[in-house]
Amino acid sequence: MARHDVPGAHDLPLRRRGNVNVTQSLVNVHDVYYIIELLVGGQKIPVSVDTGSSDTWLVQQPYECVQFFFQPGQKPNCGLGDGFKGNLSGGRVPKVEFGRSYADGTFVRGFFGFEDVTIGGLTSKLQRIALVNYTYWFGDGKTSGLLGLAYPYMTSLDGPNEDQPLYDPVFTSLWKDKQILPLFSMALSRYADQSAGQKGSDEGHENSYLALGGLPPVSYDEASWARTPIQSMSVLTDWGLDTQERGLYVITPDAYVFGKTNTSVPLSEAGLATNTTHIPVLQLYAQFDPPAEYLSSNGMFFAKCDAKVPAFGIKLGGTTFWMAPDDLLKQNARDPTGKWCRVGVYDSDASPHVLGVSFLANVVAVFDVEHHEMRFAKRTKY
Ligand SMILES: *[C@@H]1O[C@H](CO)[C@@H](O)[C@H](O)[C@H]1NC(C)=O
Ligand SMILES: *[C@@H]1O[C@H](CO)[C@@H](O)[C@H](O)[C@H]1NC(C)=O
Ligand SMILES: *[C@@H]1O[C@H](CO)[C@@H](O)[C@H](O)[C@H]1NC(C)=O
Ligand SMILES: *[C@@H]1O[C@H](CO)[C@@H](O)[C@H](O)[C@H]1NC(C)=O
Ligand SMILES: *[C@@H]1O[C@H](CO)[C@@H](O)[C@H](O)[C@H]1NC(C)=O
Repeated sequence: MARHDVPGAHDLPLRRRGNVNVTQSLVNVHDVYYIIELLVGGQKIPVSVDTGSSDTWLVQQPYECVQFFFQPGQKPNCGLGDGFKGNLSGGRVPKVEFGRSYADGTFVRGFFGFEDVTIGGLTSKLQRIALVNYTYWFGDGKTSGLLGLAYPYMTSLDGPNEDQPLYDPVFTSLWKDKQILPLFSMALSRYADQSAGQKGSDEGHENSYLALGGLPPVSYDEASWARTPIQSMSVLTDWGLDTQERGLYVITPDAYVFGKTNTSVPLSEAGLATNTTHIPVLQLYAQFDPPAEYLSSNGMFFAKCDAKVPAFGIKLGGTTFWMAPDDLLKQNARDPTGKWCRVGVYDSDASPHVLGVSFLANVVAVFDVEHHEMRFAKRTKY
């Protein structure tokens, strides 16, 4: 019996009536972000998938792109694809502005309204979404918006006081409507041939999936299931949110496991606050052979592309999930000389730290909002 089937956990496979397990393929863009196609009011619109926010927004056609640094005489280009055309069939939300700023300096502004949103055959009728008509963005033209998969709480963090009334995002609407079980899962696959990504080709990689209400159709190790609670926003002490509400999928790893002897470093011993987890990156960089170095031209740590890559794992819910060498040293993210490859783990000043694509490519990740827990299983080699 798989560990995620123990009593008190959820009841996969689906037993309740009316629950549909819908799997939608994602397009991997250079192992950096993943695209899903939405049908919004009958218009096909590709957006990127984001578990770190809750609004679903699309650019409105036409929209205004602003860029603070561009050559005089050059038209700013935000790199967003074709946006939503015409009016929203459910009308607009009067007087409420939509505005979000992201950590990389990009921002979007616009307004809210209601429209049918379909993902892989499931429709959230007259779903509240945002249309963006004013933005600073740097995309590559492949997406026209974002699908936010986090909790309703995050939709309140708008306006000067971050106190807007909550609304149900797409995923929440679908499970409250009993179209799916209250969970989704993701299998993000790295390029099988990392040099294919380098050449900008989409060929040669395993499919990636978002599965709503079930598990994605990839192979994984049934015996490896582990679970860890999703914590409330109050544990992100930097954010100063005095609430027991869950907003983001915040989890606390048991330990980071690395070193020649596979030393397990409990967070406390590594000087890590449980909830503002500083990954011991400098120790990890030192263990590449030859060691990884800071390339000031890129502002990040790189190692020789043929360096020996150390073992590095993240222990979650009692199980260590090892990161593949291809994720620790990204053969498809090279410096201009082509000799240095980017290390797939880096520190950030901002809290919380993020288990991003380079970790997620090694697991099936289940986001279970009914049981307030995340479950992980090891992907078998692909
Ligand atoms: C959108 O709504 C506005 C205001 O109601 C109207 O003037 C306009 O013709 C509509 N546009 C389309 C494409 O339906
Ligand atoms: C965007 O939409 C809002 C709400 O309708 C409007 O007030 C604003 O002027 C629009 N901005 C642009 C740049 O079109
Ligand atoms: C969901 O669908 C996939 C693909 O058909 C299947 O592999 C998986 O077992 C299903 N999950 C559930 C919970 O039914
Ligand atoms: C971690 O979270 C606990 C409550 O969950 C809190 O008491 C503690 O101060 C937090 N520590 C840090 C360093 O944020
Ligand atoms: C450390 O763990 C990795 C991944 O399981 C394994 O390949 C390696 O042999 C281990 N090294 C030692 C010294 O145990």
